[in-house]
Amino acid sequence: MGSTRAEPEPVVSAASYARWRASTLGRITERVETRLVSALAGDLHDRRVLDVGTGDGTYAIAAALGGADVSALDPQAAMLARAAERAAARGVTLDLHEGRVEAMPFADASFDVVIAVTVLCFVPDPAHALREMARVLAPGGRLVLGELARYSSWAAERRVRGWLGARTWRRARFSSRRDLCGLARGAGLTVLDLRGAVFFPPSGLAARVMAPLDPTLSRLRAPGPAFLALAAVKPQASGAGSAAVGGTSRTSQLTSRSRSPATEPRKS
Ligand SMILES: C[S@@+](CC[C@H](N)C(=O)[O-])C[C@H]1O[C@@H](n2cnc3c(N)ncnc32)[C@H](O)[C@@H]1O
Repeated sequence: MGSTRAEPEPVVSAASYARWRASTLGRITERVETRLVSALAGDLHDRRVLDVGTGDGTYAIAAALGGADVSALDPQAAMLARAAERAAARGVTLDLHEGRVEAMPFADASFDVVIAVTVLCFVPDPAHALREMARVLAPGGRLVLGELARYSSWAAERRVRGWLGARTWRRARFSSRRDLCGLARGAGLTVLDLRGAVFFPPSGLAARVMAPLDPTLSRLRAPGPAFLALAAVKPQASGAGSAAVGGTSRTSQLTSRSRSPATEPRKS
């Protein structure tokens, strides 16, 4: 684990994550979200991947199982300990760092892929966080964000819970498609794709019945997803990465570490 120290202000605990995942709704929702994030991340074999705000490691472990060389960062030591346990149970290792997205202990251009799922919703300055993620991304590298969507029954319910005093939801920010595109572009990234997921309301029964329809609803850009995921690329100096939302070259933007000096970490 890295040596960076940071004062944690937990919004979500490792125990609450385990309880969520043990519920029918949590299990199905996580599966639907993970599928979308994986699709947007593309083939991760041999990629240098950073999972920002890794929590108990769901996305970091999925990337490691896909053959990536994975670093993961979180301010909560308890989350990182749980991520290490879960990774060991799956037979993979993660390079874990205690720290915050606002000041990450990594050199510029260190990663081919940066993933951050439901992290921006809890940071005070998401534009700054985006710039920091763009900094550690190699030219041609890909950012995948997953965020809580603003226009959904889940957001409505969570806002009410926040107003009633639930600490997590009082602090959470809900994003629109436009917000996420604006953040990515503001950090100098080119948006490749933006999709919704979790079109069912927050009920285990609804999740069980409706989850099979989720990929279709996502493709049709149906209204009301609870989760939005964006893929963006850091342009090469030559101007590569000019594909726009809905463009076709989603996975070809990433170059192999062994083939492209552009993806090697800058010495600094
Ligand atoms: C809702 S959890 C998401 C965990 C994981 N990404 C997932 O989706 O399973 C949010 C995580 O972001 C972390 N976090 C909160 N503020 C952060 C910050 N400023 N920098 C990095 N991570 C942060 C929290 O500790 C927590 O583990």
